[in-house]
Amino acid sequence: MTRTLTIRRPDDWHLHLRDGAMLDGVAPESARHFARAIVMPNLVPPVLTGRDAAAYRDRILAALPEGAGFTPLMTLYLTETTDPADVTAAHAAGLIHAVKLYPAGATTNSASGVRDFDRVRPVLEAMAEAGIPLCVHGEVTEPDVDIFDREAVFIDRVLDPLRRATPGLRVVMEHITTAQGVNYVKAGGNGLGATITVHHLVINRNHILAGGIRPHYYCLPVAKREEHRLALRAAATSGEARFFLGTDSAPHADPLKESACGCAGCFTAPNAMSILAHVFEEEAALDRLEAFTSLNGPAFYGLPPNAATLTLTRGDPVAYPYRIETGAGPVTLFDPGFPLHWRAA
Ligand code: DOR
Ligand code: ZN
Repeated sequence: MTRTLTIRRPDDWHLHLRDGAMLDGVAPESARHFARAIVMPNLVPPVLTGRDAAAYRDRILAALPEGAGFTPLMTLYLTETTDPADVTAAHAAGLIHAVKLYPAGATTNSASGVRDFDRVRPVLEAMAEAGIPLCVHGEVTEPDVDIFDREAVFIDRVLDPLRRATPGLRVVMEHITTAQGVNYVKAGGNGLGATITVHHLVINRNHILAGGIRPHYYCLPVAKREEHRLALRAAATSGEARFFLGTDSAPHADPLKESACGCAGCFTAPNAMSILAHVFEEEAALDRLEAFTSLNGPAFYGLPPNAATLTLTRGDPVAYPYRIETGAGPVTLFDPGFPLHWRAA
């Protein structure tokens, strides 16, 4: 039986597009299904100023196919020397839509991130005043904290104190991976939202480690126990306004992942919508897919939902390539481990 589902065109509220040849290879993959994306600034060197963001936006636009109809929403990388005036000017000019906080050392290209949170207080206060969202990579970096506990500990030690110290600051807890994250976001006020990735709805930590180590399932924050995956699925499919899609699609060339010390990141841009339709169907929540992918994010960011639509059709399994070739090398797609019957047109 063929079934179709038409939703407002989705947006990706957390995406890595990289730069150079990798950008050229992956930007068209996101543009195929998504109308807009919050683009992460963790390039080398990072996107630090409004000027950097404008130049990066132009490189992204140049990497898109003719008539792609894709709008990159730019972000700045918060450092201890970020100038509050530059942030508010870039936002007022419509150039940036958020600022990204990486605790120094938490993940890929986070070395320039924040060590001393008191040093970014003036920027955070200016952002609260101007209504600029702070996107947070929510993991502590202390080596004595177990990697599976780093999100929950971050909430208690860093995020909650930071939000209390900066009333009015709008915060997106990015790529939540735990029941603690879900519960914290649910209990927060209006100015708190969370993105959830596709892969964290599908895999738990066994997928990474049981029966052999699978580098293409390794990402940060790392997937947790099954009970956490179920909490994320309940949150994503709830329709609640504070949860929205951020794929965290994070391409790395295969040799950098299939390595003695592999990079973190799952590449989901090509099959994200197919996987999501599968997950929402399993949860008997297809009627809430649009809220998660196309309505809740724009509402949080104060943008209108897209006028255009995307139609998903259920039929024979869709054959996605195992990997795509880019000028920066091959990039393996995230394999959900089950056939995908929903095709996004
Ligand atoms: O898995 C991840 N990959 N998590 C991040 O936080 C960064 C990202 C990347 O840039 O590769
Ligand atoms: Zn990310």
